Amino acid sequence: MCGIVGYIGNLPAKNLLIEGLKRLEYRGYDSAGIAIASSTGFDIERAVGRVSNLEAKLDGDTGFDGTIGIAHTRWATHGGVTEVNCHPHTDNGNKVCLVHNGIIENYAAIKTWLAERGHVFNTETDTEALACLIAELYDGDLEAAVKAALREVTGAYAIAVLCTEEPGVLVCARKGSPLMVGVGSGEYVVASDPSAIVAHTSRAFALDDYNVVRLTQDSIRTSTIHNKAVTPKVMQLELELDQIELGTFDHYMQKEIFEQPHALRNTLRGRVDRDEGRIVLGGLLSCAKELVRARKFVMIGQGTALHAGMIGEYLLEDFAKIPTEVEFASEFRYRNPIVEEGTVVCAVSQSGETADTLAALGEAQDKGALSMGIVNAVGSSIARTTDAGVYLRVGPEIGVASTKAFTGQVTALTMMALFLGRRRFLSVEKCKQMIGDLETIPDKIEQVLQQAQQIKAVTEKYVHRENWLFMGRGFNYPTALEGALKLKEISYIHAEGMPAAEMKHGPIALITDGMPTVFIANRGAQYTKVMANIEEVRARGGHVIAVATEGDTEIESVAEDVLWVPEVAEPLSPLLTVVPLQLMAYYAAVARGHDVDKPRNLAKSVTVE
Ligand code: F6R
Repeated sequence: MCGIVGYIGNLPAKNLLIEGLKRLEYRGYDSAGIAIASSTGFDIERAVGRVSNLEAKLDGDTGFDGTIGIAHTRWATHGGVTEVNCHPHTDNGNKVCLVHNGIIENYAAIKTWLAERGHVFNTETDTEALACLIAELYDGDLEAAVKAALREVTGAYAIAVLCTEEPGVLVCARKGSPLMVGVGSGEYVVASDPSAIVAHTSRAFALDDYNVVRLTQDSIRTSTIHNKAVTPKVMQLELELDQIELGTFDHYMQKEIFEQPHALRNTLRGRVDRDEGRIVLGGLLSCAKELVRARKFVMIGQGTALHAGMIGEYLLEDFAKIPTEVEFASEFRYRNPIVEEGTVVCAVSQSGETADTLAALGEAQDKGALSMGIVNAVGSSIARTTDAGVYLRVGPEIGVASTKAFTGQVTALTMMALFLGRRRFLSVEKCKQMIGDLETIPDKIEQVLQQAQQIKAVTEKYVHRENWLFMGRGFNYPTALEGALKLKEISYIHAEGMPAAEMKHGPIALITDGMPTVFIANRGAQYTKVMANIEEVRARGGHVIAVATEGDTEIESVAEDVLWVPEVAEPLSPLLTVVPLQLMAYYAAVARGHDVDKPRNLAKSVTVE
């Protein structure tokens, strides 16, 4: 999604803003632009494509030597990917200049109103309407004009605004799209996420919805769009620069797949006590009683996070015996769901900023549900608005295709299910056994990762095929969905995931000679059923790639290729079986020559609906 960086201080802003934009590249974008305040107005440059294209254009430009500026990576929503539609945008009189993330939903009505007042529009964007509206309402005070404009706006926004009449002022605001303010000494860095801030300062605060911040080099004032003063909660960013750097890896996705053992050790650290059979989750304690008494859980999320939530359903019902449903947040938010007393709505999200998940959570809260978050990004919107939650602690995920966040989410959900299970029906012995198994997961993932070259070789055998199927049962049905999603999003191969039993109800018609069909066939309650499904695929000429439990001799005689995972208790098996699927998707994308970390049309954090 779009990214914003803004700077006000005493350093030349240009390089700092470009550096910030590069840190935000992972979010996904199609064009980039920059504006630096100058003595005569703004120096503005825009380019379609990568930030490096913008950099190249700037090399030939004069000016751009001011110390206050705003910059943007755009992920097109309104209007095509053209230089004209690129942010920053100005009003006709070049008085106001702004960058914007989100969507101004009533932009057409605003444009009509502005056109009657003589404004002319040069772009197809909703953002230009906002720049013109602020200029129209400007009466000597930028902050007041921004607030007045935002009171007229419906939709989502994070904005950073400059004005020629107030050259030393930067005004920013947010509703629905994240924006953080890094607090340095004599300087402020504003950005969509902390990765663009941390090189300058580790002190920052997140703007809340409807908050506006007015910054000068040596002052800061935060208030709501309705002029209520707000005291920002400055926190210490825990992000280290090396966490967001590639190191010796070729891609962030590869780095994050290989980081999983380390990441999950962090997820578990200090939270599980095998000897006592106890789970310690500080973020659940304040609501523990309500959670234990819950009559129903509803897991919400999108994409990979939803798949983790689906595994959460199996875990909660198995360990805690709490009836659980899973739903796309995007569906939940609009279908007027029935939320009865005793319902807990649990949002699963890496970024904590996914627009649909956030809105669905709001809908659930309005209807009286207790809200929970299984979130990675500390201080994100979902983390801040939920009643209780568990952080993943897997570190920043930069790769657009989610990997370590998925295993972090499943691990956090497992701990949550055990936490509630122990307070309901789960025996201490069973809990001890599960904790013991959970603690072996990082080492076992390491064993799977040691087979990376073999997984690569198997992938390369099939990488020319355009259609794949992924199948699993029980706990590994969501893993099949996740395997298919990973493959399609970065290698652009069409893939479908499904419960293996569903195959006979239609998809079996797709199986043709040599079609790659990935079965998650680890030893578990439904192993013999999966084996029967494998035979059905073989009988129709499909090539079976099985993810199987080490030591299983039976599988070798029916599968073309086998990718091995160590033995583990079945409820925890997705934490292992997903890893070969992540690697397959990675190697398929590399073999096809795709830019793994910048997949076509995708954004890391989907902050618009
Ligand atoms: C796929 C992927 C997406 C996200 C989804 C939700 O690899 O990353 O499907 O899982 O957009 O994002 P979060 O978890 O940030 O809410």
